[in-house]
Amino acid sequence: MSEVLSLRNVSKTFREADGNLLEVISLRQFELGAGEQAVLVGESGSGKSTLLNLIAGILLPDKGEIMVNGTNPTKLSEAARDRFRAANIGYVFQSFNLLQGFTALENVLLGQMFGSANGGADRAVQLLKSVGLGHRLQHKPRALSVGEQQRVAIARALVNAPPLVLADEPTGSLDARNGVAVLDLLRRICTEGKHTLLLVTHDPQVMKSFEKVVRLEDLR
Ligand SMILES: Nc1ncnc2c1ncn2[C@@H]1O[C@H](COP(=O)(O)OP(=O)(O)OP(=O)(O)O)[C@@H](O)[C@H]1O
Ligand SMILES: [Mg+2]
Repeated sequence: MSEVLSLRNVSKTFREADGNLLEVISLRQFELGAGEQAVLVGESGSGKSTLLNLIAGILLPDKGEIMVNGTNPTKLSEAARDRFRAANIGYVFQSFNLLQGFTALENVLLGQMFGSANGGADRAVQLLKSVGLGHRLQHKPRALSVGEQQRVAIARALVNAPPLVLADEPTGSLDARNGVAVLDLLRRICTEGKHTLLLVTHDPQVMKSFEKVVRLEDLR
């Protein structure tokens, strides 16, 4: 299995308000192969979101190597890194981060801006249909339920068919029934498209459903 994600000796330290340094990430080695699906677990404040942001190139590590699909994004210019992220990484946030002034379809199309040309509006519509929102294309986020908004966010994250999908507690804002539905959907799309998935969760039920459970503390 070829590696889509590989990290070596990655560390990240924050300076706290009182001036003290806080080493949040100190990670020896971590890999995910093509099409692999894993959950990342750890206590609140242990650095899970920080790790996803490092992998996405939203944050830069103090040291260490991060390889995504054969490229080290930390070595790219900021603009090149943004383009690389758009084409290679789908990011599903806990709080969706949808643009309120735009419709469901426009939100997905906006995700396509920097991505490689794949499918244009057809793919965006097809993805929204596949997440059960074919009848909600022209709705703005405010007019969508929370579960529907998260499904738009999933469609947006997947619109460029990224090799790597990161999801930070994607079911955290949903009730149990919607949470299960959204999670099943995300996993089904990743399985079908052979996207590698790294998903943060606190939910023991979700953990149980994954073969690979990674504890952040075990990576030190
Ligand atoms: N920009 C920053 N500056 C200073 N400290 C930060 C910064 N970002 C995060 N931290 C600290 O780093 C630690 C890890 O934060 P992070 O958000 O990665 O945790 P988490 O594991 O995702 O937690 P949760 O499960 O609650 O979402 C926390 O103690 C947080 O306060
Ligand atoms: Mg977090």
